[in-house]
Amino acid sequence: MIRWGILGCGNIARKFASDLALVENAKFVAIGSRSKEKAQLFAKEFPVPHVHDSYEALAANPEVDVIYIATPHSHHHEHTLLCLDHNKAVLCEKAFAVNYREAIEMITKAKEKHLFIMEALWTKFLPHYEKMKSIVDNGQLGEISSVLINFGFQPRTPVPARLFDPELAGGTILDIGVYNVFMAMSVLGRPDEIDAHMKPAGTGVDEQCAVLFRYKNGAMAQLFSSFISHLPTEADINGSKGRLRLTSRFYAPESALELYPERLDSKTIVPFDKPLKGWGYYYEAKHVSDCLEQGLKESPVMTHENTLTMMQVLDEIRQKAGIRYEADL
Ligand SMILES: NC(=O)c1ccc[n+]([C@@H]2O[C@H](COP(=O)([O-])OP(=O)(O)OC[C@H]3O[C@@H](n4cnc5c(N)ncnc54)[C@H](OP(=O)(O)O)[C@@H]3O)[C@@H](O)[C@H]2O)c1
Repeated sequence: MIRWGILGCGNIARKFASDLALVENAKFVAIGSRSKEKAQLFAKEFPVPHVHDSYEALAANPEVDVIYIATPHSHHHEHTLLCLDHNKAVLCEKAFAVNYREAIEMITKAKEKHLFIMEALWTKFLPHYEKMKSIVDNGQLGEISSVLINFGFQPRTPVPARLFDPELAGGTILDIGVYNVFMAMSVLGRPDEIDAHMKPAGTGVDEQCAVLFRYKNGAMAQLFSSFISHLPTEADINGSKGRLRLTSRFYAPESALELYPERLDSKTIVPFDKPLKGWGYYYEAKHVSDCLEQGLKESPVMTHENTLTMMQVLDEIRQKAGIRYEADL
C-alpha cells in the first residue's frame, strides 16, 4: 500500500480524496491544512488517521510516502520543496508552477533527492484521451492541419478568490488555458511560433486569453480561454482524412469522441473501453501508486520533460500576452 497525504483542504483536494479511496494500492493516511478546523472538517468527510494543522507537520510525518499538493499554483513551488525537503514523493496539481524557473527548481530538487515527482495532469490518464491519442497517432485523421480549442465559463458566485487574485497567480491561462496548451501539444507537439493576446480583469490577471500556435509544416492551433463567458469547452482536431471532436468538457472524463470522417453530417461516436472510475482522478492516483511501487522516480507517461516544455510554452504565452506575476520578477 502506498501511503498518501493531501496538502490543502480545498475543492480539488476533496475530489481527489474521494477517488483515492478507489485506488487498490493506495491508502489515504494524512491531511494537512493551515487551519486545524479545516483539517478536522476534511477528516470528518474523508476519515484519515493523521490530521495536521500545518503543512510542515504533514511533510514531516514519517508514515507518509507521497503528498498530493492541492494549493493554488502560486504556492506549488514552496509546498513541493517543503515536501521534498522531508523526503516525500510529490504529485503536484496543474499548473505545476508559476513559471519555468520554479518548475526546474522543483524537478531538480526531486532528482537530487532521488524522489518521484509528477504534475497532476489528470487528462493524460483518462480513457478518452488515450483513445484520442491512438486515433491521431495511427493516422486515422491523416495529416493534422489544425487544432481548435476553447475553454470558458462564468465562475459561480461567490467567485473563488484564487481565479482573479494576482498573488495566487490567478487568470485563465494558468488555470484553464493550461489544458488547451496541453491538448494542442499532445497532437501537434511544441509550437515553432507563438502569439498571444489577453484582456485583463480589474485585478490585472487575464480574464480572456487568445493563443495561436504555428508549426513549420503549416499546422496551426487556436486556443481560447475565458472567465467571462460560457464556451462549449470542446476541442476539434482537424486532419486531411477527417475531424475528431472531443465534446464538452474536452479535458474531463465525460467527454465523448465524435469522428467526422468526411462530411460534417456523417459523425460516428468512437467507443473506448475503460469504465469511468470516480471523478476521473482515480487514474492519475493509480498511476502514481504503481510508479512508487515499482520504485520509479519519474512517470513514463507524464514525464519531467512534458512538464518543463509546457512551462516554457506557458512562459512564452504570458510574455507575448503581457501576463506577469511576482514570481517572474
Ligand atoms: N485537476 C483538476 O481538475 C483541477 C480542478 C480544480 C483546481 N485544480 C488545481 O488545484 C489547485 C487548487 O485549486 P482548488 O480549486 O482546489 O482551490 P481552493 O478550493 O481555493 O483550495 C486551495 C487550498 O489551498 C490552500 N491554500 C494554501 N495557501 C493558500 C492561499 N494563500 N490562499 C488560498 N488557499 C491557500 C487552502 O487549504 P487550507 O486552508 O486547508 O490550508 C485552500 O483550501 C490549483 O492549482 C488548481 O489549478 C485542478
